[in-house]
Amino acid sequence: MSKKIIITIDGWSSCGKSTLAKQLAKELGYVYIDSGAMYRAITLYFLRNHIDWTDVAEVNSALENIHIDFEFNPKSQQSEIILNGENVEYVIRDLVIAEKVSDVAAIREVRTFAVAQQQKMGTKKGVVMDGRDIGTTVFPDAELKIFMTADIAVRVERRFKEMYEKNPNITIEEVKSNLEMRDYIDSHREVSPLRKADDAVEIDNTHLTMEEQLAFACELVTKRHLV
Ligand code: DC
Repeated sequence: MSKKIIITIDGWSSCGKSTLAKQLAKELGYVYIDSGAMYRAITLYFLRNHIDWTDVAEVNSALENIHIDFEFNPKSQQSEIILNGENVEYVIRDLVIAEKVSDVAAIREVRTFAVAQQQKMGTKKGVVMDGRDIGTTVFPDAELKIFMTADIAVRVERRFKEMYEKNPNITIEEVKSNLEMRDYIDSHREVSPLRKADDAVEIDNTHLTMEEQLAFACELVTKRHLV
């Protein structure tokens, strides 16, 4: 039987990390974990409960009341995030959350809380996790690390199409400025900023189809004799 490994996928906002992570997990029979969903769920909790996240004591006591799980939904055929017993998988994709999530994700206490849970989820291996600091901080010893990029125009177009389906009032400019703002905050924060791990393989998928990017990633897995 092949050895189970940990695969990390980091990169800029909306460059197809979750698409590739889901494809790979399916192909290998691994568990997919969306670490960004955890930061989004925490942001949702903070907004709903009017938490002042500039106050460390308030953040710490709020975190004590946050319980996050992932549950497989047979209907959507994917694992979805549960915040304190409520499925919030779809609510957390809203622009209101996207506008605040990078600020919340930059808070040291929030990262310590989320990273501890992410590391626990990887103890049995057989995991594909995507995010911003997975190869650098969460699993620095992961067997395969991928860093994804794509042209900003392509990323904006992809995200716009996705968001427009749910909210036809959204504009290209709103989507573009949100992506640029998040990329800036995510890569300039003090605690584990987004960066390519030294041993990560870069995939620029600007001109790749979903099939091509999956084939490339599968080749990486086999080339390294990982399966
Ligand atoms: O992958 P996403 O767009 O759902 O992530 C939402 C935000 O969460 C992103 O702007 C930065 C933050 N994030 C992070 O700081 N670290 C991670 N491992 C994953 C996401």
